[in-house]
Amino acid sequence: MASTSHFTIFVSLLVLFSVLHPAIATTRKLAALIQEQPLLLNYHNGPLLKGNVTVNLIWYGKFTPTQRSIIFDFLNSLNWRKAPSPSVSSWWETTGRYRGGPCTVVLGNQVLDENYSLGKSLKTPQLAALASKAGYGENSANFVFTSADVAIEGFCMSRCGTHGSGKGKTGKFAYAWVGNSLSQCPGQCAWPFNQPIYGPQTPPLVSPNGDVGIDGMIINLATVLAGTVTNPFNNGYFQGSAEAPLEAVSACTGIFGKGAYSGYPGEVLVDKITGAGYNAFGMNGRKYLLPAMWDPQTSTCKTLV
Ligand SMILES: *[C@@H]1O[C@H](CO)[C@@H](O)[C@H](O)[C@H]1NC(C)=O
Ligand SMILES: *[C@@H]1O[C@H](CO)[C@@H](O)[C@H](O)[C@H]1NC(C)=O
Repeated sequence: MASTSHFTIFVSLLVLFSVLHPAIATTRKLAALIQEQPLLLNYHNGPLLKGNVTVNLIWYGKFTPTQRSIIFDFLNSLNWRKAPSPSVSSWWETTGRYRGGPCTVVLGNQVLDENYSLGKSLKTPQLAALASKAGYGENSANFVFTSADVAIEGFCMSRCGTHGSGKGKTGKFAYAWVGNSLSQCPGQCAWPFNQPIYGPQTPPLVSPNGDVGIDGMIINLATVLAGTVTNPFNNGYFQGSAEAPLEAVSACTGIFGKGAYSGYPGEVLVDKITGAGYNAFGMNGRKYLLPAMWDPQTSTCKTLV
């Protein structure tokens, strides 16, 4: 754990913000066609999150220390260039090709809400309220993680994670949510580690950190994190309408390696001992499976392997 982070346990709900913008969902449409024509995400003249971006974490519900460390190590790996290739940091470097230069994720506060202070069934505005528990500074984004036993409005039916923004006393803030889908819809939100619900059936990959729910969350976290920094206020980079934008990673849905097609994640690396499918090395010897990201310099979905 980084020495700069600290844990806070919160007891009451502060509502710091007055205006909430619609959250942007990351949908995993398995039957979606893989783009064949060049893909273009337009820039809509708004700010991106660049430079040192503080990411605060809110853990809602029960997560084991091991589960938290898988996610924590992923976030710390984003700017850790010592990992062997292909690395998590080389995946993240693509965000630096969007206007404004590199984005360095710096982990900030962590809040543990292990006793479900808002219950086990949450609506979208409550996610934003939870996100505010970690406080907001300049150039920051707050991420809420919910455990497998927490139901979220729209979870599974249309989304595996979201990001959005609001306005508070100190200005605009960005937030995101990712849920553990293991007991609710792993076929949708933890694919390709679980058999898909619809569409062509290829055998699931073995998850690289031995936890299908958390490795699925890594894919959705990667998706909303890239969307948050390249389209934090819904006027950054996206394709299509602002209500249902296709963003840096969501525009490349379902692609993890070369040769991907609907229902097939593409060629990935396979761990010789565990049989796990992965495509990126991180810190502490970890392996992750990360989704393709749109590269503005080539206008293509870039895969790591
Ligand atoms: C980010 O933080 C590091 C370490 O505190 C500092 O050296 C660097 O100048 C900062 N970068 C920006 C763009 O503010
Ligand atoms: C959560 O609930 C348990 C059992 O009731 C209690 O022991 C613990 O102190 C609570 N934790 C917090 C942070 O309130």
